[in-house]
Amino acid sequence: MSAPIRIGVVGAGAVVVHGHVPSLQAIPGVQVTAICDTNLARAQEAATKFNIPHAFADYHDLIARDDIDAITVAVPNALHAPVAIAALNMGKHVLCEKPLATSVADGEAMVAAAEKAGKVLAINMSNRPRPEVVLLREMVQAGRFGTITYAYGRLLRRHGIPGYGSWFTRKELAGGGATMDIGVHMLDMVYWILGFPPVSAVRGEIQAVHGPHERGLGGWGADRVTGGVFDVDDLAAIHLRLANGGLVTIEVTWAIHARNEERIQFAGDRAGADYFPDLYGKDQPLRIFRVDDGVPVEIAPEVPKKEWAWAEGFRHFVDACRGTGQPVATGAEGLSILRLLDAAYRSAAAGSEIRFSSEAQNS
Ligand SMILES: NC(=O)c1ccc[n+]([C@@H]2O[C@H](COP(=O)([O-])OP(=O)(O)OC[C@H]3O[C@@H](n4cnc5c(N)ncnc54)[C@H](O)[C@@H]3O)[C@@H](O)[C@H]2O)c1
Repeated sequence: MSAPIRIGVVGAGAVVVHGHVPSLQAIPGVQVTAICDTNLARAQEAATKFNIPHAFADYHDLIARDDIDAITVAVPNALHAPVAIAALNMGKHVLCEKPLATSVADGEAMVAAAEKAGKVLAINMSNRPRPEVVLLREMVQAGRFGTITYAYGRLLRRHGIPGYGSWFTRKELAGGGATMDIGVHMLDMVYWILGFPPVSAVRGEIQAVHGPHERGLGGWGADRVTGGVFDVDDLAAIHLRLANGGLVTIEVTWAIHARNEERIQFAGDRAGADYFPDLYGKDQPLRIFRVDDGVPVEIAPEVPKKEWAWAEGFRHFVDACRGTGQPVATGAEGLSILRLLDAAYRSAAAGSEIRFSSEAQNS
């Protein structure tokens, strides 16, 4: 039996109490030894609920402890970099929440700190382990669809703004709105399924339609205030032109006069796939389209069932800390996604596409 992995959790908000701590405590050989939140009462409440020995208000106190091998970071996005870098410099492995950071420079500094420390930097791209996403990746990577010429990901929330004036709606803390919060997930899913192909250009159309008028409030986040600052976006369309000529389009909203919707499509020169639970139903939400002997066919493959796929990234992270596995998503991959999101924002501001050289993207 290998030595226990002792983990400190930075942040005691919604994703920690619903996700991080239950996921970690379900892994054999893992001990959650400390939790930290600037709202100390919140950290103490979580410590009591989950039987965590130590609670702190300052993350420096947590990362200074010798009885912590690794941390998870679930604080406002702008704080991901300082917390992760401080922990890596103290020799801790880090699983950071998405998005990796709020600037490419911060993301680069995180990846460099992990390399220097020789420690794991993982990012919680929690949608990757979903069974339908894994199946699509396997099919795309096995060449079932041929060369992909078109990929599409759409995630519409009708009322999904996580609290006006909470950190989520403040650019200085969140780095952006729907684009940074859920655009990051949809872009990561589609781009991961494609295998992170080189991108030659990015175009972003980014708007704030409902947020500035305090419409479209949703039900997430620990600090929900009214009448606060909303200086981020709530709607984004991001287009990538791949170096091989393929097109990727991502559309996300935090608020829109439309039904909630999630759809992922891939079309290649041999076949196509459409994941669309609203159209095909939750039991068989995926369809494959191809032509067999000149006859168009539509197939509904069985998607394997998986229990709480969301938690899988934590198991892989622990394996990576033990040196027996790889993270579901690496910090370097999180940085690649951040570069694309950053380009989308710059494109939207400039009103023109941003050209990428493959070296700039992968360096
Ligand atoms: N992967 C996913 O599926 C997923 C889902 C939700 C949120 N997230 C990410 O998790 C992070 C946290 O989101 P959340 O929904 O839990 O937000 P939240 O607002 O519910 O919680 C954030 C917590 O961080 C605390 N905090 C602020 N500054 C701090 C500091 N310096 N040190 C310690 N604690 C501090 C706040 O007091 C709050 O309790 C964000 O980066 C978000 O994007 C990821």
